[in-house]
Order: sequence, then structure tokens, then C-alpha cells
Amino acid sequence: MIALPESWLHAIDAVVQDPGIVVVLGASNSGKTTWVKAAAEECAQRGRIPLAIVDADIGQSTIGPPATVALAVLKEKPEPARDLALLPTDALFFIGAVSPRGHLLQHLVATKVLVDRAVRHGSAVVLVDTTGLIEQGAGFQLKLRKIDLLTPRHLIALQRNEELEPLLTVLGHRPGLTIHRLEISPSSRVRTAAERARYRAVRFAAYFANAKVLPLEANRLVILSSPIGHPLSRKDRPSSLLPPGMLRGEGFTRILVGLNNAANETLGIGVLHSVSEDMKEIRVLTPLEETSAVQILQVGSIRFNRLEEA
Ligand SMILES: Nc1ncnc2c1ncn2[C@@H]1O[C@H](COP(=O)(O)OP(=O)(O)OP(=O)(O)O)[C@@H](O)[C@H]1O
Ligand SMILES: [Mg+2]
Repeated sequence: MIALPESWLHAIDAVVQDPGIVVVLGASNSGKTTWVKAAAEECAQRGRIPLAIVDADIGQSTIGPPATVALAVLKEKPEPARDLALLPTDALFFIGAVSPRGHLLQHLVATKVLVDRAVRHGSAVVLVDTTGLIEQGAGFQLKLRKIDLLTPRHLIALQRNEELEPLLTVLGHRPGLTIHRLEISPSSRVRTAAERARYRAVRFAAYFANAKVLPLEANRLVILSSPIGHPLSRKDRPSSLLPPGMLRGEGFTRILVGLNNAANETLGIGVLHSVSEDMKEIRVLTPLEETSAVQILQVGSIRFNRLEEA
């Protein structure tokens, strides 16, 4: 049973009254996704549609598969209590990892690109759900730079103690930004690492439910290395582009890949299946039906033999 604290309702009301980009921050299990869902429902009920959700949580994704940042646009009032995970995905951006560490640039760019797209397509309210990575160091930097880049109208800060205060101190006097400090609901539940891994596996499995192994013509593709490099590269000579034959190497077995068009927009994701002996054909397990626009194969940073191992 979802119980919304008073401070949550206040913040939602402020967003309805004064629409804009809304960034939701908090540690893992602080209630970010629950708040986003409640805000989306209330905004839609009160006529703020189309409304966009950008799910920048690449680990515990609700929209799109894990390892991607995803955009869903709500064009009509949702049925009550509808699961956000059932919203169709309007755009994806493949990151290739389930934590932003090592992929901070890709993660920031993805979020910015999808927020801009949502605004361009007419969503006055854009709710940005984020990962729980808020610790000093990488988490602090990522969140600060994300706010610098997105220039949100509202910042929703869900904190148990004062874990967001260093960041909020920096942002306290920023013109045009309203910070809403929200308490964590007493009903919030801490999910274990095993539960999180299971949830990810379920989300991957749902995405790949109708996947087939499809051939891609290697000579029509550019193959981009993962941003953290690839297992066969020499540290002193990293390569950003990979020849198709490289994907036959042991380190690439069942690696996650992004299937991107010429503009580097993600059309779908896949799992590397095999490369033909003559290296002319790269076979990928993917639910994407139409692969003719795929021109960039972005190699990810996670491999799995079974989807549950992701
Ligand atoms: N107001 C609430 N009422 C009832 N349950 C809640 C509430 N807030 C959070 N929860 C429960 O607590 C758990 C964590 O909440 P939620 O998934 O929204 O957190 P999160 O910050 O998005 O976590 P993550 O960083 O892992 O994505 C969930 O099981 C959720 O249903
Ligand atoms: Mg969440």
C-alpha cells in the first residue's frame, strides 16, 4: 500500500502548478521511483499531458531494459495504479552497464539527449528518475553535473539523514531551481542485492522475451568499443573501433550490445551470439524486428551466459 507523506504531496503540487524539468535524487530505496510514479499520475490527472519520464536508473530500470536510459511519454491519463514498467518506451540510449561508474559521460549525455527530446516534443513536465549513486566522490560529481546540464526547475531530494546536504548546499541559491526536501516514507523497503539482481534479470528477460538471433552485415557496421575498453586491448594502445573479427574473441562471448542508427540513437539492444567464420556476418540475439537502420554496434561492458547473471 502506497502511503504518500505530506511533503511528497506538496512537491507534486508544486510541479503541477509550475511545470518543468524535475530531477529526483536519493540513495537506493529512498522512494525515488515511487515518487515519480505518484507525480506522473497526479500531473496527468490534472491535465499536464503529454508528460515525460526519463528513467536514468540503469540498474533498477522501470522503463526500458537495464543498461539503458529510457524515455516514456504519457499522452493520456493513465489507469489508476498502472505499473510504470508497462509504459511503452519512446526512446532508448544504450549505456552497456548497470552502474554509472566507468560510464559517467555516456550516462550524462544519454540523460540530456532524452530530456531535450521530451521537451522538444511538447512535455511540459519531465520527471527524471536517477540511480542511488549519491556518495561523495563520483556520485556527488555525477549529480551536480547532471543538474548543471539539465537545469531543472525542481529538485526532489529524498533523504534519510543528511546525505544530500553537501550537494544541496552547492545548489541552495541557484536561480530558477526550487529544492524540495522530502522525508522517506516509513513504508519504504530496503531491497537486498539479491532482490535487485533478480529484478534486473526479470526486466532483461521481459525485454528479450520475443528475441531472435538476427544477422547483421559486418561491412555496413561500425563497431564501437565499450568505454571501459575491451578485454583484448593493450592498455597502452586502446582502440575505440573494433574489427568484426575481434568479436570472435573469448572476452566477447554473450556480451551486451547496443544497436544504434547512424545518429548513434539506440534502436534496440542485443546479446552477441556469434560471428561467421568469414567475419561477414555478426549475429545478435535481439527483439528488434527491423535492423536495416542499424549502423553502429556499441559493445557494452557486461556479459552474461544466462540473463540472470547480468
Ligand atoms: N511512500 C511509499 N509507500 C509505500 N511503499 C513505498 C513508499 N516509498 C517507497 N516504498 C517502497 O520501498 C521500496 C523502495 O522504493 P523505490 O523503489 O521507490 O526506491 P528508489 O529510490 O527508486 O530505489 P532504487 O534506487 O533502488 O531505484 C519499494 O519496494 C517501494 O514500493
Ligand atoms: Mg528506483
